Amino acid sequence: MLPIVELLLLAHCAVAFNPGGGYAPTNVSCPSDAHFVRAATAISQAEQDWLKQRHAITDVALLDFLDRADLSGFDAEEFLQSLNRSINIGLAFSGGGYRAMLNGAGQISALDNRTSGAEDHGLGGLLQSTTYLAGLSGGNWLTGTLALNNWTTVQDIIQGDTIWNLEESILTPGGWNIFSTAGRWSDIDDAIGSKEAAGFNTSLTDIWGRALSYQFFGDANNGGEALTFSGISQFDAFKNAQMPFPFSVAVGRAPHTRIVNLNSTVFEFNPFELGSWDPSLFAFTDLKYLGSDVSNGEPTSDVCVQGFDNGGFVLGTSSSLFNQFILQLNTTGISGAIYTLIHGFLSNLDEDFDDVAIYSPNPFFDSGYAVVESIVQSDTLFLVDGGEDLQNVPFAPMLQPEREVDVIFAFDNSADTNDSFPNGTSLQATYLRQFSEQGNGTAFPYVPSTDTIIHNNLTQKPLFLGCNASNLTSLSAIPPLVVYIPNIAYTIWSNTSTFKMSYSNEERDGIIQNGFEAATRYNLTIDENWPKCVACAIIHRQQERNNDTQSAECAECFQEYCWDGVQFEGGSVPARSTNYTSSSGLAKGDMNSGVLSSSALGLSVSGATASSATATSSSKGAARSWSPSMSTKFIAMIIAPIAGFLF
Ligand SMILES: *[C@@H]1O[C@H](CO)[C@@H](O)[C@H](O)[C@H]1NC(C)=O
Ligand SMILES: *[C@@H]1O[C@H](CO)[C@@H](O)[C@H](O)[C@H]1NC(C)=O
Ligand SMILES: *[C@@H]1O[C@H](CO)[C@@H](O)[C@H](O)[C@H]1NC(C)=O
Ligand SMILES: *[C@@H]1O[C@H](CO)[C@@H](O)[C@H](O)[C@H]1NC(C)=O
Ligand SMILES: *[C@@H]1O[C@H](CO)[C@@H](O)[C@H](O)[C@H]1NC(C)=O
Ligand SMILES: *[C@@H]1O[C@H](CO)[C@@H](O)[C@H](O)[C@H]1NC(C)=O
Ligand SMILES: *[C@@H]1O[C@H](CO)[C@@H](O)[C@H](O)[C@H]1NC(C)=O
Ligand SMILES: *[C@@H]1O[C@H](CO)[C@@H](O)[C@H](O)[C@H]1NC(C)=O
Ligand SMILES: *[C@@H]1O[C@H](CO)[C@@H](O)[C@H](O)[C@H]1NC(C)=O
Ligand SMILES: *[C@@H]1O[C@H](CO)[C@@H](O)[C@H](O)[C@H]1NC(C)=O
Ligand SMILES: *[C@@H]1O[C@H](CO)[C@@H](O)[C@H](O)[C@H]1NC(C)=O
Ligand SMILES: *[C@@H]1O[C@H](CO)[C@@H](O)[C@H](O)[C@H]1NC(C)=O
Repeated sequence: MLPIVELLLLAHCAVAFNPGGGYAPTNVSCPSDAHFVRAATAISQAEQDWLKQRHAITDVALLDFLDRADLSGFDAEEFLQSLNRSINIGLAFSGGGYRAMLNGAGQISALDNRTSGAEDHGLGGLLQSTTYLAGLSGGNWLTGTLALNNWTTVQDIIQGDTIWNLEESILTPGGWNIFSTAGRWSDIDDAIGSKEAAGFNTSLTDIWGRALSYQFFGDANNGGEALTFSGISQFDAFKNAQMPFPFSVAVGRAPHTRIVNLNSTVFEFNPFELGSWDPSLFAFTDLKYLGSDVSNGEPTSDVCVQGFDNGGFVLGTSSSLFNQFILQLNTTGISGAIYTLIHGFLSNLDEDFDDVAIYSPNPFFDSGYAVVESIVQSDTLFLVDGGEDLQNVPFAPMLQPEREVDVIFAFDNSADTNDSFPNGTSLQATYLRQFSEQGNGTAFPYVPSTDTIIHNNLTQKPLFLGCNASNLTSLSAIPPLVVYIPNIAYTIWSNTSTFKMSYSNEERDGIIQNGFEAATRYNLTIDENWPKCVACAIIHRQQERNNDTQSAECAECFQEYCWDGVQFEGGSVPARSTNYTSSSGLAKGDMNSGVLSSSALGLSVSGATASSATATSSSKGAARSWSPSMSTKFIAMIIAPIAGFLF
């Protein structure tokens, strides 16, 4: 079977691609009356038009989902027909490297009616009912892979063998065949060189994005080197609104600083635009023309640029925290051109820029909508990993009141605890941000402290937040209801290290299966009413707006899944391991189910310990998180023997 990218090329669907056909951005003539930047006062006209089409599909799919949930005393058709707008469901997939990508893959497959078993013992059809889909860092590798492969399915990916082959790390894509590895790196070198030759500044993120792309878009056409993020809008699945509206989330770093915190600007890429709703920018630019030299959104000449918004570059931007992995390349024994390339970067770049993606020229240069000037006065826009401000679950695009989201399903595959499970750190960050100047009218429900989450075992099952709008009136608006679904280990240790860079197909498929189980209360065996409870969450905000009384059945669900609002006050809870027996009643020993031995937990593959992984991941946001000792161990154990064997 040909990879989709190749099929598309054969079909001459070249509009999804850089018109120049390679990685280097291409000169084109500017459209007449070009003005690429607008104030972030509303969603774009293009998004509004697209939503009409999408809602025609989600309305039908949601009716089907609600009918199958079969809530007693609830007529789904009558309910949906009585509304003056469609229900908007959002999905958010957290960062966390391949762990987040794979757990997220299983979680999304459980919502996808194209997955076998998803309607029988899962939430099949929920994905078809969804309006918005946000990914960040590793979560964005998942959502980006699906979106940029014409909305393929996780099941098709793992049954085929053209993408998501993670057996070899991106450093040594050829595995034992060092020549094949060197050939790949030479192609990457050529691509980066062509972008520089076209007059654009490059950064480590260009290399990182190119290297990742072969895993996400296949070897054909050089890992989709001409594929653009704005090109999503040219895929049939998007044009026909058969997929949700995808967002890739990154964070802006002010020029000349390294600080990233809750005051930093949160950016969204969507198929039409790049920009931020935050007062520190409050603007969006036309994504397709990124790379054009502009002042206040007006081209400075009649030459504009397309193809800058390379798909892999965008995915690399959102995950730039890990791009320093590439700096270890020189230890693989692959020397020559590649060493020169890396060395060039090292001497050109201050290490402060290691985790940065350079967007130069700055599309927002001299634009007039920001309350602080630092971003718009710089000729370069600096973007970093979306999780560096600790908001590792990408809620931001879906909290904008303009998008009228009713419910967000938040899949948290972060590594917060000592054993790399989430503890709600990102919920806390998003909750707090609403009260800062950057909050700007976005509301988020009250959340349990991480102490409460750990002490009360709140990551052992899904958690509903903001269940009762009447409790939320002191916020600036009524936020969406949040259905928080953490990584839970049922049939495999799904808490692998963020820095684990290769997975056997067996491990990969095992974590994907576990993700399905985490999203479905262990295939509905722990709670057969889970689809009903999800249905109750979806209709809840609208029922509140209608002043409808909640049914006894839904009230029971809310009793089971809503946070009761009580914070644990017993003093601070040590950041302990959450390595508890799964709530399915499986004993710890059974959790392995013969798939992986427990020694595969965490970092054993890379030879470091689980606690050192946490030490790095918890410093995420404050500083760069790549721990040299860990990567050196990784290289020493896995890569060096291979290279040594051959050289
Ligand atoms: C993309 O997906 C749509 C919908 O599934 C399908 O009709 C179309 O043929 C696909 N296009 C390509 C080029 O694979
Ligand atoms: C693209 O246009 C710029 C000026 O706008 C020019 O400097 C550059 O040489 C052009 N690149 C190519 C490949 O024509
Ligand atoms: C999945 O749901 C969509 C939208 O309701 C529907 O058109 C499609 O036929 C369903 N597919 C399967 C395999 O059930
Ligand atoms: C849960 O369902 C998925 C999807 O059908 C399946 O792959 C998996 O084996 C099931 N898990 C168990 C424990 O049966
Ligand atoms: C954010 O900015 C405000 C106002 O300038 C300041 O008071 C606050 O301390 C900053 N927060 C952080 C996390 O830096
Ligand atoms: C590889 O690059 C790293 C980072 O610059 C450097 O510290 C290390 O000494 C280099 N190793 C080799 C074998 O050249
Ligand atoms: C988790 O539990 C397994 C099985 O009992 C054990 O082997 C492993 O060491 C534990 N991991 C941590 C981080 O406590
Ligand atoms: C959001 O920020 C913009 C730009 O600073 C401002 O015009 C708008 O009033 C703010 N909205 C709210 C709800 O605070
Ligand atoms: C949390 O789980 C632990 C271990 O399963 C148990 O001992 C403890 O009682 C639970 N705490 C609460 C508040 O349920
Ligand atoms: C719901 O009740 C509130 C307060 O009584 C009222 O303001 C509002 O108009 C009612 N909404 C509907 C749809 O009846
Ligand atoms: C919400 O309000 C109800 C009573 O209206 C109260 O029982 C409950 O504890 C509150 N929940 C939260 C999360 O504050
Ligand atoms: C939650 O995770 C954060 C980040 O790793 C850590 O700083 C904090 O101590 C943890 N809290 C608890 C209660 O585990």
